[in-house]
Order: sequence, then structure tokens, then C-alpha cells
Amino acid sequence: MTETWIILGATSSIARAFIRQEAANGSGFLLCGRDMDDIAATAADARLRGAPMAEAMAFDARQPDTFAPILDRAASLSGAVSVAVFVGSMPEQAAIDADPAMIAGVVTDSFTGPAQFLTAIAPMMETRGAGRVVGVGSVAGDRGRLGNYVYGASKAGFATYLSGLRNRLGRSGVHVMTVKPGPVDTAMTWGGPKQPLSTTPEVVARDIARGLAKRRNVIYTAGIWRLVMAVVRAIPEPIFKKMTF
Ligand SMILES: NC(=O)c1ccc[n+]([C@@H]2O[C@H](COP(=O)([O-])OP(=O)(O)OC[C@H]3O[C@@H](n4cnc5c(N)ncnc54)[C@H](OP(=O)(O)O)[C@@H]3O)[C@@H](O)[C@H]2O)c1
Repeated sequence: MTETWIILGATSSIARAFIRQEAANGSGFLLCGRDMDDIAATAADARLRGAPMAEAMAFDARQPDTFAPILDRAASLSGAVSVAVFVGSMPEQAAIDADPAMIAGVVTDSFTGPAQFLTAIAPMMETRGAGRVVGVGSVAGDRGRLGNYVYGASKAGFATYLSGLRNRLGRSGVHVMTVKPGPVDTAMTWGGPKQPLSTTPEVVARDIARGLAKRRNVIYTAGIWRLVMAVVRAIPEPIFKKMTF
């Protein structure tokens, strides 16, 4: 059966790696995001790599009126329609501390915008009884810490949302997978200090494909982060609250 991936956040470095990989496997795409020139170039590249269709569509997590045209186009497609969410924003925590009004935007980009879109498309996926959802969260959502707790809170909210969506859509045969990357070498982390145990967008894309093939519910990528976060979550709060990482 033909599978068409709706990619939310198609300019993301991780999304690009995923698109290159899945295009070679013959998937089609609705590539959605804000920078239409950039996305048009990615669409052309995907078609060259083997995608039977790749269309660029406008999507802004902060503007819900951009959602309906994507939902309408998805409804017109035959076969399985899947959704992969790569949208997210991570301003410096210090900037948010200085301007609390920024919190609404961070939460909308990383959680409520994508959740609103997924909730709107869920009935179509249930009716078709096919398709997959990939939601990219972060290890930052596993425990709030000094350096990025608003971003982390957004990712925690998104992970909890995905858990519930998995519970709902699994009844119709739709697989929902939560992806928790550790640090990845992308635009989001460029210019910052070199992070330990960091990985590349290509490794994350490969791990997503492997997780989907095994119908995993939650994956960490690189895989070592599952162990690291088990240790981090086990640190008693009286000690954790004094740590400065
Ligand atoms: N890099 C890491 O270390 C790391 C670690 C864990 C999790 N993640 C997560 O991985 C995902 C992909 O990030 P990345 O590392 O590939 O970084 P990235 O290249 O900066 O990608 C972020 C994506 O989010 C999009 N976006 C932000 N706000 C948006 C909005 N309001 N509406 C629509 N799109 C919006 C960006 O679009 P524009 O190009 O239009 O800005 C871009 O496509 C994110 O969810 C991120 O939180 C990354």
C-alpha cells in the first residue's frame, strides 16, 4: 500500500534525513512548514530520490488556520496517510526567564500546535485503520532541569499527549511512536557547547525507521540515552535540585 508522510517541520535537519531515507523507500510526502522556498527544494530532492509525490504546504504551529488545507489534501489521498512531527523551538532559558511571554510560543511550537493538528487528523486515521504517527519529543522532557525547563516541560506535555493518542489510535491499528533524541548535531544546537553523547540526524532517522519496523512505542536515540535518563530520573530530588547541568 502506498504510504504518504505528512511531515510537520520539513525544514528540520532531522526531518530532512528522514525524508531522504523514506523517499528512497518509495513513500510520498506532504512537506509542511514555514519556509516555502526551502521546502520546495526538499520536495524536488525527494522526487529525485524516488518519492512518487512530494508537495510543499504551508504550516505554522502558531497559526491553526494553516492546518485545514493540509487536512483536506490528506483526505483526498488514497492509501495510508502517516504523520511525523519534527516541529519544536528551544530559545535560551535565560531569554525566557527575562521575558515570560515567550513561554506560550515555546509550548505552542513543541506541544499544543502539533497536538491540535494530530487531534484533528485522528478521526481520518481511525476511519482508514492505517497509518503511523511519529512524534519527536526529547530527553529534556524526562526531567525538568535548570538549563531548559520550559522547553523540557513542552516536550513532557507532548510525550504524555502521544501516550494517550497511542492508547486511542492503537484500537484502530494506527501505530504511534514517541522519539526521544539526546543531543543531535542540528540548527537547534549549532553554536552551543559540544554536547556529550551527541548524534547525527542520519542516525536519528535510521533509529526512527528501525523503531517503526518493530512497532516500538517509545525510542531513545542514540540508544544509550535510555540508560542515561533512567539514571537521571533516579537521582533523588533533594540532590537533583542542587545540580547545575
Ligand atoms: N537537535 C537536538 O539536539 C534535539 C534534541 C532532542 C530533540 N530535538 C527535537 O527534534 C526536532 C527537530 O529539531 P532539529 O534538531 O532538526 O532542529 P531544527 O532544524 O531547528 O528544526 C526545528 C523545526 O521546527 C520548526 N518550527 C519551529 N517553530 C515552528 C512553528 N511555529 N511552525 C512551524 N514550524 C516550526 C522549524 O521550522 P523553521 O525552519 O521555519 O524555523 C524547524 O523545521 C524538534 O522537535 C526538536 O525539539 C532536537
